[in-house]
Amino acid sequence: MKLLIVLAPLLLCWSVASFPHRPTGRVVNCDDAEAHEAAEVALQYINVHHPTGYKFTLNRVENVAVVPTASGEIFYLELDLLETKCPSISPVPVNLCDVRPIIEQAVEGDCDIKLQKLNGNFTPISSRCKSELDSAENIRRVCPQCSPLAPLNDTQVVHAVDVSLDKFNGGNSTAFYLLHEIGRGRIQSGISNSVHVEFVVAASNCTKNDASSGLFACVEENGDGAHFGACSGSVVKNQGAVDEDVAVQCTVYEPQPGKVTQVGAPQVPLAPPQTNVIRSHFHHNLHHSSLGPHSSESNSAEHLLLAAHNAKHAVKRSLTGEPVPPNVPILPLCPGRKIHF
Ligand SMILES: *[C@@H]1O[C@H](CO)[C@@H](O)[C@H](O)[C@H]1NC(C)=O
Ligand SMILES: *[C@@H]1O[C@H](CO)[C@@H](O)[C@H](O)[C@H]1NC(C)=O
Ligand SMILES: *[C@@H]1O[C@H](CO)[C@@H](O)[C@H](O)[C@H]1NC(C)=O
Repeated sequence: MKLLIVLAPLLLCWSVASFPHRPTGRVVNCDDAEAHEAAEVALQYINVHHPTGYKFTLNRVENVAVVPTASGEIFYLELDLLETKCPSISPVPVNLCDVRPIIEQAVEGDCDIKLQKLNGNFTPISSRCKSELDSAENIRRVCPQCSPLAPLNDTQVVHAVDVSLDKFNGGNSTAFYLLHEIGRGRIQSGISNSVHVEFVVAASNCTKNDASSGLFACVEENGDGAHFGACSGSVVKNQGAVDEDVAVQCTVYEPQPGKVTQVGAPQVPLAPPQTNVIRSHFHHNLHHSSLGPHSSESNSAEHLLLAAHNAKHAVKRSLTGEPVPPNVPILPLCPGRKIHF
């Protein structure tokens, strides 16, 4: 808080000084159809470049800035996203995916994205995202008994995934599935100890007989038969009981040839992980950037959006009778409404 108070006057000076340099683009409001159209393109781009964890959906357009260029316009968007229940590898379109509810400890994403608009079409140029878990306090407020997420490498979570996958592989399918990724884990302890996990499986190049023979190394199938499944498992151990109860349910998707190679070697290279990102051990972080000189590009986007943000404060000051710099631009109506929560 102290830091903010110290910073605020600095930012104001900076923003007032830089308004004259801000190119005057059209004003697009956060809930205008055009902003949402850009956000849809951005979202698709973000999801394609986020091959682990879960797909994200739009919760709110937080800010928009439009800058005219010689050949079109550049849109800078700031988006609030929410994690859905569809794994990133799922072929289900994101508009059909349920949003992760607060009681399951939602993950929120925050993305700055730059798009070009040319002849009415948006093309993403670069993006920068981060994501974080909703606080454990927020869950407890709506659901006091609900447990927050456990680390993905927690031994109980890993064990629950192992036994759930074994149970799934013990079913009547002849295919042998491998663990592709652990998505989430929650541990509820009490009279009984229950561990709920979500994970993604991938079909291997082995049948169950191949696998049990121990003669073959089984690897993820990457030919025409490459396919995945999304599983949820729960492992319950009642107090005093010797055995644990394992329940597992998987949705196996249609074959998606090419998806494996895309996950393994994305066509557009992902930027190396940013060192300033604190890696979460509880969920799959949403952060990447691509195409173009990331730092200068995103800085200019940030400055634009920050300028818009500060200009808003300047307008507020005008309402309180304080002087306003002469060339404050007309401001978009932002942020937009929240679509979910
Ligand atoms: C989980 O990963 C974190 C960070 O890599 C590590 O500090 C922690 O010891 C790991 N926990 C287990 C149970 O392996
Ligand atoms: C295989 O298992 C599924 C679900 O468990 C069941 O619906 C199906 O009838 C079973 N098939 C055979 C051949 O047993
Ligand atoms: C699966 O692929 C691996 C690596 O290419 C190979 O060693 C193994 O023999 C294959 N398994 C089967 C059943 O063909």
